[in-house]
Amino acid sequence: MPNLTELLTTLDGVQAEDFKGNDLERLRLIDTVKKLLGRVETQVERMYDIVFAQPVIFAALETLLDLGLWQKWVEINGASKSVDELCSLCTQKCDPNLLRRLLRLLASVHVIAESHQDHYELTHISLDGMWQFLPSRTHHWGKAGVNLPLFLAKTGYKDPQDARNTNYMDVCPGNLDFFGKCIADPAYQDSFSDFMKGWARYKVPWPVFYDTGSLIDGANLSNGGVLCVDVGGHHGIDLTRLLDKHPDLPVGSLVLQDLPEVVKGANDLSPQIKVIPHDMFQPQPVKGSRAYYLHAVFHDWPDSVAVEILKNTAAAMIKGYSRLLIVEIVVPLTGASAIQSAMDVEMMALLSAYERTEAMWAKLISDAGLKIIKIWQDGRGNECLVEAELA
Ligand SMILES: C[S@@+](CC[C@H](N)C(=O)[O-])C[C@H]1O[C@@H](n2cnc3c(N)ncnc32)[C@H](O)[C@@H]1O
Repeated sequence: MPNLTELLTTLDGVQAEDFKGNDLERLRLIDTVKKLLGRVETQVERMYDIVFAQPVIFAALETLLDLGLWQKWVEINGASKSVDELCSLCTQKCDPNLLRRLLRLLASVHVIAESHQDHYELTHISLDGMWQFLPSRTHHWGKAGVNLPLFLAKTGYKDPQDARNTNYMDVCPGNLDFFGKCIADPAYQDSFSDFMKGWARYKVPWPVFYDTGSLIDGANLSNGGVLCVDVGGHHGIDLTRLLDKHPDLPVGSLVLQDLPEVVKGANDLSPQIKVIPHDMFQPQPVKGSRAYYLHAVFHDWPDSVAVEILKNTAAAMIKGYSRLLIVEIVVPLTGASAIQSAMDVEMMALLSAYERTEAMWAKLISDAGLKIIKIWQDGRGNECLVEAELA
């Protein structure tokens, strides 16, 4: 064991900027620190956090959102303020001592920082739109997580794979499924969209790790030819990322598809992106596109349903020309990360669905009459792009 004081001084000195954008090194450090906690924390310390502290940490975050404090605090760049000053920033009357106790908790878990006695400031965790993540837990993940053990008991501990009988439906008034609830209640759609926007900021943009140039080189874009249809593309972030790399693509060569209630939230898109409301369980209306792109779509559906989406897509593809591009997690056989594993069990809790291993992808794709050409890694060990064509 190295000298503990020296070790702690070294660790205390580490800043995000030290990695100079080397994300893999940063992630290696985080992984090592988490493993270290797994070794040196006692069982009680770990359980206190998971069982006892996490619910009230989230409750504190949510209360500050309800008080309008996050937004107002960001407007003044998260400056160090006394509890009384922060109280006066709130959009609703709040007892200063209540706020003090919530802030103290959030500072103790490093979401904000205690600048000096009774004064707090925001950190990079809380400064940049953190609150956009919060309502999605209140609306979706929280309730689904609480109900999951009950649902699994009720369904005899079978691996949930029935999209018509999900844990989410079990807990949702009116038995609506996840996307049904989003459509029925715009606040639920918005919280889902806000989470997705935040999560997308974290992901490596697909044109960074996939050779989009080869797609364009072989594409026939004259006479209204389409380069890429983004099926279930939500508000179009992935097509926008493609345009960031290739700004000169012809108008209409990119097509964004999602449910009508979803694409109406796709604002400020470039004119090169044509928006077509479309239900992916209906035949694909855009025939012969160079690429059909689906990102985080299949993990929402068990194979029995996913294969229908794939078949609808395959029917529109031209053999030897069209490519299927699927961006998803490919679960490694060992060492799946916490992000990948949590996404897998979230899909169980929300949609009776799952993340897939390479073998599971190969089977699903082949069941729809396609074959994998290549699997491209995102370079961060999170997602891959599975490139396929008609078999
Ligand atoms: C997990 S989100 C992924 C969104 C986007 N591809 C991304 O990665 O940011 C799944 C998307 O599938 C859409 N979706 C669900 N059911 C659909 C359907 N029947 N037809 C078209 N899109 C659907 C949802 O509205 C949502 O935008």
